[in-house]
Amino acid sequence: MRIAVPMLLLLAPLAAQAKVDFVKQIAPLLVSRCVECHGPEEQKGDLRLDARAFAFLEGEEDMWSIIATKPGDSELVYRLGLPVDDEDIMPAKGEPLSKEQQALFSQWIAEGADWPAAGDKWIADELTAQVLPKITFDLPDLISADQKKDIDAAIAALREKGVVVQQVAADTHAIEVNMSLLRDKVTDAEVAMLVPLAPVLVWLNASRTALSDAGVRHLGALTHLRRLNLANTKIGDKGFGALMPLGQLEYLNAYGTQMTDDGLAMVASLPKLRQLYVWQTKVTKASATSVRDQYPRVEVDLGDYVEARLAAAKKEIAGRAEKSKPINDKCPVTGAEIDVAQFVEHEGRRVVFCCAKCKAKFEKDPAAYAGKLPPKKGAEKKAAPKKKAAPKK
Ligand code: HEC
Repeated sequence: MRIAVPMLLLLAPLAAQAKVDFVKQIAPLLVSRCVECHGPEEQKGDLRLDARAFAFLEGEEDMWSIIATKPGDSELVYRLGLPVDDEDIMPAKGEPLSKEQQALFSQWIAEGADWPAAGDKWIADELTAQVLPKITFDLPDLISADQKKDIDAAIAALREKGVVVQQVAADTHAIEVNMSLLRDKVTDAEVAMLVPLAPVLVWLNASRTALSDAGVRHLGALTHLRRLNLANTKIGDKGFGALMPLGQLEYLNAYGTQMTDDGLAMVASLPKLRQLYVWQTKVTKASATSVRDQYPRVEVDLGDYVEARLAAAKKEIAGRAEKSKPINDKCPVTGAEIDVAQFVEHEGRRVVFCCAKCKAKFEKDPAAYAGKLPPKKGAEKKAAPKKKAAPKK
């Protein structure tokens, strides 16, 4: 099946030089952007992309979304290149793949869609590594009696202030702290109270608090943190710079902060970082793109697609409401008052009648009453260009 793919995507591979390396360039994208829905846990659209044998199911050749040497015939390429507001775009969540990332897939497929056994292994290892830290945190287990006393005292003091402190799971002494509910009642002083928790604190939500750039240095002491949410705080690059000791940090939410491109470049270099949210900051698209290239492991979410998606959703809802609005206020058969429960969809418009009888009459011979209906809006205008049809299976 021939699928129209923007020429740019098909030509890009010719311009590029080195052959695409599946393990280094494709597998990380599959793991970070696709496998959540097309992997061991979920197989949306009956598609699995976490191992060669699943992507190329034997006996199901006509269902393959990757057609080796033919990017233009590959549904996968088609889906990646759809406009951001198209409901079929992949990934179905988050930011669309960049043009460069899309071109990588096209080039890889054009070059034969080579998926070596080492690729399966890389993906499997990566998925295991992602699951493990959630269950077992590699924390210093020799907590001295004194340390334990300090930790308990700090927890009690924080709870006194209304801060939520809890164990992450029953089988670990790792704890999580949520300060965001207290909003600006949490200042640098309250954040300083976290420091004794350093050996056990793995998740911290300090979003919406009054934490300042100066106070972030206390967070720099929390070297076992995996997840840190600083969304909607006043923190700027100086504060983000103080996070550099957080060698275990995997997730950082900087949504709505003062972060600029400098701050982004700094935190992106954190060795374990995978997810970084920078919506509504001063981070530029260009710099997010270059960070993505430099650190393929880090998923930088700039949120610029969110508005397009919201607008598309709003348009669809408005369109639906428009469609279900009656076009007439008098029955086209008798001229009597209408009863909104008596309607038919006629040529994409809702026509309403006074009673079921009139509705039946109209349905039998709509042409006889067409003159009683208001004229179609923009009837003389040129029809909108048809949406490109999705490829058939
Ligand atoms: C949040 C979930 C989600 C993510 C992430 C996601 N997909 Fe999908 N995908 C879906 C759903 C749901 C469907 C089935 C509905 C449809 O066809 O649109 C689907 C269908 C598809 C199909 C069509 C399968 C077929 O043959 O009908 C392809 C190809 C595809 N996805 C590729 C990808 C790729 C490549 C990625 C990563 C870059 C990705 N998807 C990421 C949810 C997701």
